[in-house]
Amino acid sequence: MKRFLSGVQPSGLPHLGNYFGAIAMHLALAQEGEAYWFIADLHALTSLKDADKLREMTREIAVTYLALGLNPERTVFWRQSDVPEVTEVAWLLSSVTGMGLLERGHSYKDKLAHGLTPNVGLFYYPVLMAADILCFDADEVPVGKDQIQHVEFAQDMAGAFDAAYGATFKRPEWRMSPTPRVLGLDGQKMSKSYGNALWIFEEGKALSKAIGKLPTDSRPPSEPKEPDGVLLFDWLKLLVPADEFESLCGRARTGGDNGPGYGELKKRLAAAMDERFGPAREERRRLLAHPQHVDTVLAQGAQRAALVARGVRDRAYKACGLR
Ligand code: ADP
Ligand code: TRP
Repeated sequence: MKRFLSGVQPSGLPHLGNYFGAIAMHLALAQEGEAYWFIADLHALTSLKDADKLREMTREIAVTYLALGLNPERTVFWRQSDVPEVTEVAWLLSSVTGMGLLERGHSYKDKLAHGLTPNVGLFYYPVLMAADILCFDADEVPVGKDQIQHVEFAQDMAGAFDAAYGATFKRPEWRMSPTPRVLGLDGQKMSKSYGNALWIFEEGKALSKAIGKLPTDSRPPSEPKEPDGVLLFDWLKLLVPADEFESLCGRARTGGDNGPGYGELKKRLAAAMDERFGPAREERRRLLAHPQHVDTVLAQGAQRAALVARGVRDRAYKACGLR
């Protein structure tokens, strides 16, 4: 049976990109093999400097997965900082990793390009991520497109360590989501850090307001239009049934009396968000009212995760002469 592993940072409210790029795939893969999902709170420290917010967002991510149907019996689900063995293994990996490898990191270079002041943690981030993966003997790491290079770095680091000390780590493969790059309100990759994201549990007026911001042009419904490349259609494609989406596209291409107006499409999008996320929204509220239950789930997950991580850490310590 394959072991899948992935992490999500608690750096902000989970958005449509996180859902379609990662969370939905995680929930589906738990039916297919052994699933190991964790909340990457140590990684979040590189960008988030607010202790209360970090605590709140960590709980938010936990509640999101549980509300969307994660089964903690079947899935090992924990908070990264509860299994500190990964930080020990990260140090070992850093000593076999060239500076040049990390300097090539897209995510690091992207953050610099967006004007973030880099800290050492941001630079070292892929080393910790490699340790996250290698500490659990993961077969596959399901991620969005932006994280593939990090998984490749983990492959390189495993190879470098094994070349120096003999076979120690399992080489992980990446698996890309069928929707690897959801665009945000401004047409760039949707991201918590770019202020262009839609929270999956947004509702009511706030939801309509957010959808209202989707850019459209002033062409009337009757004017034939090509839906490809129009953000509103991109989002509809994610959320409405395939046959309905085809019919909306057909009407847009033909135009005339039956051409869909942008207002109608935005209303349909809001309704589709309610259909997809409405029941989980309620479950989220219920779980937030029982924080102890959520803490217990994470603590039990950490115990199970630590058993695996300790074994790998000991193997690696021994290999390189620390035992
Ligand atoms: P963010 O960029 O909002 O900080 P994260 O880096 O925490 O998101 O990503 C969490 C997961 O969601 C990762 O697996 C990532 O690949 C995926 N993901 C993030 N943004 C998108 C997006 N716009 N489209 C598809 N997947 C995404
Ligand atoms: N860097 C990932 C992200 O921002 C989160 C992450 C941390 C992760 N460790 C990981 C993902 C290990 C997969 C495997 O999305």
